[in-house]
Amino acid sequence: MKYKNKTKQILIIGICFIIFSCSELFLTEIEPSESDCLNDDIECTYSEHVKPIFDANCISCHEFANNSNGELSLSSYANTLSGGNNGSIINSNSENSLLYQKITGNQTEGSQMPPSDLMTPYNIDVIAKWIEDGAIE
Ligand code: HEC
Repeated sequence: MKYKNKTKQILIIGICFIIFSCSELFLTEIEPSESDCLNDDIECTYSEHVKPIFDANCISCHEFANNSNGELSLSSYANTLSGGNNGSIINSNSENSLLYQKITGNQTEGSQMPPSDLMTPYNIDVIAKWIEDGAIE
């Protein structure tokens, strides 16, 4: 009788432990990552998602519009929307946008951007989704 009770106890503790570890696992998995706008529920915005990418990869050459960078300033939302020598760099869909063509190396004129090396696929996808989401601020 005593022995059986002990087995029962161990079994119950075991089951509790399994439930506990599973719920831990479940909780971590569903925890949303607020800043990942490639998640369909979140729109990519200029200020939260795109500006940090421009700051890290483009601003060294595109802070102020001048004749050595295609007259394109990427230093603010308004400047980004006004575009450069070739007019708007953003179109209603990403493939027709000069911005997207340049960062994927599919431009018909000039160089890919950045000229040295293309950005990571993640950064490219964020900019593409930003355009598809309406290029909001
Ligand atoms: C090392 C300097 C440099 C960096 C870094 C750079 N660019 Fe450029 N960019 C240029 C130059 C020079 C031009 C003009 C010549 C050309 O279009 O190829 C240009 C032109 C452009 C144009 C075309 C503007 C127009 O209307 O003709 C776009 C769009 C652009 N860059 C986007 C970007 C983006 C986005 C980044 C960052 C991911 C970036 N560039 C990083 C130097 C740079």
